[in-house]
Amino acid sequence: MQIVIVGTGYVGLVTGTCLAETGNDVTCVDCDRKKIDLLNRGHLPIYEPGLSELVTRNVTGGHLRFTADLASAVKKANIVFLAVGTPPSEDGSADLSSLWAVVDQIAPLLVPDCVVICKSTVPVGTNAKVAARLKELSGHEIDVASNPEFLKEGMAIDDFMKPDRVVVGVRRKEVGELLRDLYEPYLRTDKPFLIMSPESAEMTKYAANSLLSTKISFINEIANLCERAGANINDIRRGIGHDSRLGFAFLFPGVGYGGSCFPKDVRALAALARSYGMDPKILDAVHNVNEHQKTVLTQKIEQHFDGKLADKAIAIWGLAFKPSTDDIREAPALVLIDRLLELKATIRVHDPEALNNVRAIYGDRLVYCPKRDDALRGADALAICTEWKQFVRPDFAEMRRLMRQPVIFDGRNIYDLQQLKGTGFTYYSIGRSTVVGDGTT
Ligand SMILES: NC(=O)c1ccc[n+]([C@@H]2O[C@H](COP(=O)([O-])OP(=O)(O)OC[C@H]3O[C@@H](n4cnc5c(N)ncnc54)[C@H](O)[C@@H]3O)[C@@H](O)[C@H]2O)c1
Repeated sequence: MQIVIVGTGYVGLVTGTCLAETGNDVTCVDCDRKKIDLLNRGHLPIYEPGLSELVTRNVTGGHLRFTADLASAVKKANIVFLAVGTPPSEDGSADLSSLWAVVDQIAPLLVPDCVVICKSTVPVGTNAKVAARLKELSGHEIDVASNPEFLKEGMAIDDFMKPDRVVVGVRRKEVGELLRDLYEPYLRTDKPFLIMSPESAEMTKYAANSLLSTKISFINEIANLCERAGANINDIRRGIGHDSRLGFAFLFPGVGYGGSCFPKDVRALAALARSYGMDPKILDAVHNVNEHQKTVLTQKIEQHFDGKLADKAIAIWGLAFKPSTDDIREAPALVLIDRLLELKATIRVHDPEALNNVRAIYGDRLVYCPKRDDALRGADALAICTEWKQFVRPDFAEMRRLMRQPVIFDGRNIYDLQQLKGTGFTYYSIGRSTVVGDGTT
């Protein structure tokens, strides 16, 4: 199989590399020359655990290459994956301009039996429009299949290699069989290969992300209520999670979901519903609850310091939208940083992987600390926005020594309330009572 992946980002690079790993001949294309140059010099433009070794092995083995020359790559391809970004437009709907730019470019170049596969998350009906556009520009029928991606950043290799399921949306049985053959090496443990229409495949992706987001917003709303009503969200989580109908997944309270998928996909599905004259009440509520949740840590900080942050230094641990990635798109930490900058606080940030991405936005307005504990030096408080494993077992006595005031605002509930009692820290978290410096709650 000669496979071309257009768009070499979090999804395209992982997809291309994993497909090369099973012996396919893969060319990853991107219009970002810097990205391609970096890859061709043996460096990765993103952080994803385990990816670097796989890329090196497959480039060395001759199965994987990178280019900015879309035309040359596509001319020989049997399969072209579209994995470009589909970010939100002003009104929340998916911005498909990158996708259409690629479709227009490749249409005249495709060999007659080439199959175009849409991996980007796109609104229902897009695959049909892509097929129509390709036919119009090429003068012949080209098969287009929907194959939404469900990988999670931070676990992307495992998710691709051992997916819970593969979903494909096709018009012709033969295209379904081609895709089944392509994915067969990854479905050895009898996980399902689900064939449906392109419309259903497109909708499946949005429905999955929206339901996961709904669980997060739900538990966050309950957590906020717990704080006011004197209940402990961790107990509630256990109490409901053991119900086999509910389970534990995605029921961790926090400072809201971020990343390049949940926020945009919930809004895009709501926009789709509106385009059909529907009022998407649940989706709007999920989004609004999340927007509010991104501000709860800031509110606690402002309350604690009586709104006077100008002479305060706040340390932030965790900037990526979740652990094990350098992705900061729509990360809750950015909302906190923006507000603290408005209040003229000094901000000392640490993240194991995302510092460079944050520096690219904020420049010299923040103090960047490559070492976790350096962020604490002279800080009046620590705010935790991402639950990196590196933050879970700190030396509280050493932290007290480094900080000017012993205060923690934990946006991810990574510590036990009991653990904090007796440390001298005042400890705020989400959906639980506050531990005051003298150990009372
Ligand atoms: N990131 C995830 O965890 C994830 C998971 C599942 C699905 N998705 C979906 O997959 C798609 C890609 O997401 P991503 O996170 O990989 O995005 P990304 O921004 O990391 O990568 C997209 C890449 O496409 C390239 N690109 C844009 N226009 C191009 C063009 N005309 N020609 C060639 N390359 C072009 C960009 O330079 C970029 O490198 C989106 O639709 C997203 O919703 C993402």
